[in-house]
Amino acid sequence: MKLGTPLSPGATKVMLLGCGELGKEVIIALQRLGVEVIGVDRYENAPGHQVAHRAHVINMADPAALRALVEQEQPHIIVPEIEAIATDELARIEAEGLATVIPTARAAQLTMNREGIRCLAAKNLGLPTSKYAFAESLAELQQAIDSGIGYPCIIKPVMSSSGKGQSTLRSADDLQTAWDYAMSGGRVQGVRIIVEQMIDFDYEITLLTVRALGAGGEIETHFCEPIGHIQQHGDYVESWQPQAMSETALRQAREIAGAITDELGGRGLFGVELFIKGDQVWFSEVSPRPHDTGMVTMTSQLQNEFELHARAILGLPVSTALRSPGASAVIYGGMDEKGIAFEDVDRALQVPQTDLRLFGKPEAYTRRRMGVALAWADDTETARKNAKLAAATVTTTKG
Ligand SMILES: Nc1ncnc2c1ncn2[C@@H]1O[C@H](COP(=O)(O)OP(=O)(O)OP(=O)(O)O)[C@@H](O)[C@H]1O
Ligand SMILES: [Mg+2]
Repeated sequence: MKLGTPLSPGATKVMLLGCGELGKEVIIALQRLGVEVIGVDRYENAPGHQVAHRAHVINMADPAALRALVEQEQPHIIVPEIEAIATDELARIEAEGLATVIPTARAAQLTMNREGIRCLAAKNLGLPTSKYAFAESLAELQQAIDSGIGYPCIIKPVMSSSGKGQSTLRSADDLQTAWDYAMSGGRVQGVRIIVEQMIDFDYEITLLTVRALGAGGEIETHFCEPIGHIQQHGDYVESWQPQAMSETALRQAREIAGAITDELGGRGLFGVELFIKGDQVWFSEVSPRPHDTGMVTMTSQLQNEFELHARAILGLPVSTALRSPGASAVIYGGMDEKGIAFEDVDRALQVPQTDLRLFGKPEAYTRRRMGVALAWADDTETARKNAKLAAATVTTTKG
């Protein structure tokens, strides 16, 4: 494994497609290894732009714009950080040997649409999932619910993320409202939705799974300790590691994560989302990249999820060892405003064994994630308490 000098003809060049808070940390991890990094996002001064060697603003869903930039920059490796990109063009770029796509272009294609990944998991691999169906009209939705999915159930546009367009239906009275909301929340108007039986889980986890090269040059699969988390409106508010699990549930979780990541292939870190009730485990979805709930690993692991991704991408060995139990809690914008300021950061960091990441997003929205508080402790309960306290102590004001 050879790494060149950045900004020289022999540089190892990596292009990040998406420069949010997760991309920013991947870039920092790559920078520490002397990689030349090109950050791409849809708006100027995105968090990752601020730490990359070069920054570009393009519409990543536009195949021509994406190809032009790849031809201009000639990266060795392309790392998608978001779902909404021209994945068919990525597949052509990969097939032509222009660059390696992480983990693979097919994984990016399959996971940008809930239908692709759900059918692969449930039908091809036979993994346990909630009952589900797809619908393109209110009548089809009603038919799917009446013929087996039942209430309560959840509907989501097949092309959406972070809970957009997602809602829970408790009875037929909710049908119209839920349908209208889904139609307004998808990435593309008037598209398909997935309707899923609501799983009455005890808790949900993200199982970070890394496919990296071992000493013999073969791909090896490594599992991090499970991460527990709480979601509100389809967005994570709090996460902790390790989540206590029964041996049976943990074994099954690893089997499911191993099966889905083997199928997606390539190198890199994946966030496998699972629901658990007693010893029973359901597959929910998978991100072929670092996961927001995995931000806790910035305090809880020796190599955090971004470093693991960077190492796996470059063909380097990884360690998923836990450093200490830890927790993360989200800091929101609290207002719709550009160039906000964070106050009481000093008071927040007086909470013992805490740390902060402020992402540097140029514009805040009330519910936009602007930062995260991290805490480590002898147990996750204490870590959660301190992370939440530190997050709540930080206040936002007009800049
Ligand atoms: N079938 C289900 N049964 C119970 N809860 C569910 C189900 N589907 C989704 N949820 C809840 O909603 C959350 C968000 O769902 P999901 O992960 O599918 O959406 P998302 O928009 O991709 O979110 P994100 O992008 O933040 O991961 C889940 O983490 C879980 O808490
Ligand atoms: Mg999810």
